[in-house]
Amino acid sequence: MKYDAQTMEKLVALAKRRGFMYAGSEIYGGLAGAWDYGPLGVMLKNNITQTWWKQFVTDREDMYGVDAAILMNPRAWVASGHVAGFSDPLVEDLKTQKRYRADHLLEEAGVVVTGMSISDMDTAIKEKGIKSPEGNPLGEVRQFNMMLKTSVGAIEDSSSVIYLRPETAGGMFVNFKNIVDTMAPKMPFGLAQIGKAFRNEIAPRDFIFRVRELEQMEVEYFVHPSDWERAFEEWRLQMLKYMDAIGLPRDMVHELEVAAEDRAHYSKRTIDFEFEFPFGCKELYGLAYRTDFDLQAHAGESKQSLTYFDEATKERFVPHVIEPSLGVGRTMLAVLASAYHEEEMDGEARVVLKLAKDIAPYRACVSPLLKNKPELVAKSREVYTALKKQFGNIAFDDNGNIGKRYRRQDEIGTPFCIVIDFDTLGENPANLDTVTVRNRDTGAQERIKISELANYIA
Ligand code: GAP
Repeated sequence: MKYDAQTMEKLVALAKRRGFMYAGSEIYGGLAGAWDYGPLGVMLKNNITQTWWKQFVTDREDMYGVDAAILMNPRAWVASGHVAGFSDPLVEDLKTQKRYRADHLLEEAGVVVTGMSISDMDTAIKEKGIKSPEGNPLGEVRQFNMMLKTSVGAIEDSSSVIYLRPETAGGMFVNFKNIVDTMAPKMPFGLAQIGKAFRNEIAPRDFIFRVRELEQMEVEYFVHPSDWERAFEEWRLQMLKYMDAIGLPRDMVHELEVAAEDRAHYSKRTIDFEFEFPFGCKELYGLAYRTDFDLQAHAGESKQSLTYFDEATKERFVPHVIEPSLGVGRTMLAVLASAYHEEEMDGEARVVLKLAKDIAPYRACVSPLLKNKPELVAKSREVYTALKKQFGNIAFDDNGNIGKRYRRQDEIGTPFCIVIDFDTLGENPANLDTVTVRNRDTGAQERIKISELANYIA
């Protein structure tokens, strides 16, 4: 569906109404940049992450999973360059002291910020007379480090300061030696991790697009330096395959070759996969060639050898790294936004999430035609229990009339609604032990034998 001006508002409302996402600590007025997954959100998120883990790890022979601690020795973030350079351009409203992203204000004023330095932005803001959203004058543009700090131990001083990891990648680089020593991997090989990361975003916004507590699915893929271009292309295709698997329409995904001046400090080549979100075409995922930047930097800081000895070629070298990095929340938002449709069916308006069936929170919903007929309810429970045992994510719904149940399931993207009626029980002997299965997208109904149901919905 083409988005309209209210799409985001409607998506946020649906996400709350149907238990996908709630504002973090909502009863206290919320907390900017923090969102909670509700029951259906958890189911959708698990399907998103499990599909990723299967494709990027389990289905391959060259991948190893890790689950590193969020809290790391702060020297790791000095080595990685994040303490010195992980920053965004910030500008302050001189009256309210509220802080804004200088690049966002410039973009909103129609300025192309690609390649602009901090002083370029400062000059542009002054020359164009750009004011804060409240209409007040702005101060100097400054760099603002985005790492969230906390402190460990009983005494709070500069020696107790540590950072919440700003990317999951760090936990994989510091485990490179452990993996080589304990798993004896053959080159090329990769590490994969799904986990939380934290960024003190100046301007969290656009629902779950830009948050302060985020979740990433990342791979650090170690290659011989001469092999990086092949591996980069392999992972580019893997990322596209993943987007197909979770049902993101290819024509809404655009690859952007990131200009040298806009790449992260560790990258020699980056492709951003941008997605057509309701608020514009914005970064969904990144694919970076991190060279040997991180292993060299950690080797220097830790004084440990982070090299690889290739038994086949008798060569010792520092591997180079290809990194596909995918945000879980942005995936969820892209999936929800592209699946959201408002349309008419059978003369009635409906909202439907056309989610890929392996991603939808529930694969099917089982209902008795009438709630007050014990024999229908009993047969429905029997069908439901058998399917739930096999698939897990099967719903049971006997509230309201059938039409209302269909609308409810459409709104949460359930691909199949299974209805047990009197024919199922043999009122029409030709239909004994069959059920009607209604297709979410077409509304078409088919009679299917109970014995064939599992195959049908799989
Ligand atoms: N390890 C590389 C890395 O972290 P990044 O481009 O900063 O690179 C990777 O982030 C991905 O993480 C992004 O493409 C996006 O999907 C997600 N991401 C980054 N910052 C985010 C934020 N503040 N809120 C939600 N997702 C974010």
